[in-house]
Amino acid sequence: MSELNNIVLKVIGNGKGILAADESTGTMTKRLENVNVESSTQNRLIFRETLFSSESMKNFIGGVILYDETIKQSSSTGKKIPQLISDSNAVPGIKVDTGAKVLAGSPEEKITEGLDGLRERLKEYYKLGARFTKWRAVYIISKDYPSKLSIISNAHALARYAALAQESGMVPIVEPEVLMDGNHTADDCYKKTSEVLKRCFEELILSKVDLKGIILKPNMILPGSNSEQEISSQEIAKLTVKCLKESVPSDVPGIAFLSGGQTEKEATENLNSINKNNNTNFVMTYSYGRALQQSALKFWSKNIQDTKGTQATFNHRAKMCSLAAQGKWSKDIEQQNN
Ligand code: 13P
Repeated sequence: MSELNNIVLKVIGNGKGILAADESTGTMTKRLENVNVESSTQNRLIFRETLFSSESMKNFIGGVILYDETIKQSSSTGKKIPQLISDSNAVPGIKVDTGAKVLAGSPEEKITEGLDGLRERLKEYYKLGARFTKWRAVYIISKDYPSKLSIISNAHALARYAALAQESGMVPIVEPEVLMDGNHTADDCYKKTSEVLKRCFEELILSKVDLKGIILKPNMILPGSNSEQEISSQEIAKLTVKCLKESVPSDVPGIAFLSGGQTEKEATENLNSINKNNNTNFVMTYSYGRALQQSALKFWSKNIQDTKGTQATFNHRAKMCSLAAQGKWSKDIEQQNN
């Protein structure tokens, strides 16, 4: 087994998943201001350190995606943040794209940037302790979108990034996110996601990326956030598994979903249903940002000194996600443990 494949299994094996704590300073500022906390360097670090030193890091979190600011910080006890994460037996990761910018030629859409100088930045992150990386491409759904231009250019950038990440000894998380915004149906999401994923894998194969050494981070197949379509978790799971089975080569060891605007409970229930319907060899787990942090952030914002209480809130969410990653979650367990 290759070293990259070993890292993948360490991050997402054994019912574990990923904590996406790689919000850029702009996004983190919005999240903090939303709960009336000032977005200072110190506050961003305190909240994140509280999560990274929680008990669930040992049992439920196999990897943490960091932002450039955080990977270079030290905890209150003087420990480097990547070391704090490794000490819980989780793997430190790093977001390496520099954000989604307006796509020239199709200004409604975005292209993710960050390839210039990437090889050098990857070397630096490796030295800082990162063993996996993330690059997120975004696609909108409407009658004319995503355009062919957006599908081709973002897939190309994802593949160039993934090849460079593997060259530097790190696992690339390949994240093509078909956004939930809009009033499209789940069927529309299915068709567009299939098209996006197929093109991504064509480019990854062309770039000679070792598919056994990547983690795919896709969206689930859902109706748009403004759609009136009623759909059960069971149906979401069936569509999601079918779409991934058809579009993802079987060499890919693992799939870690983003939560993308679902509530914590929805993201947990849907992941659980996906695992109950998982008739593939892919590990199907979580790489959640909001769906792992929302309640903890809310609690912390009102009880800033209460580290233990914040951690208890986070531990609960992480445990529920881990059960869902094994198809063992239920509404009863959710309530009993709350
Ligand atoms: P959400 O789970 O909040 O969508 O964030 C995951 C992520 O890493 C987006 O890039």
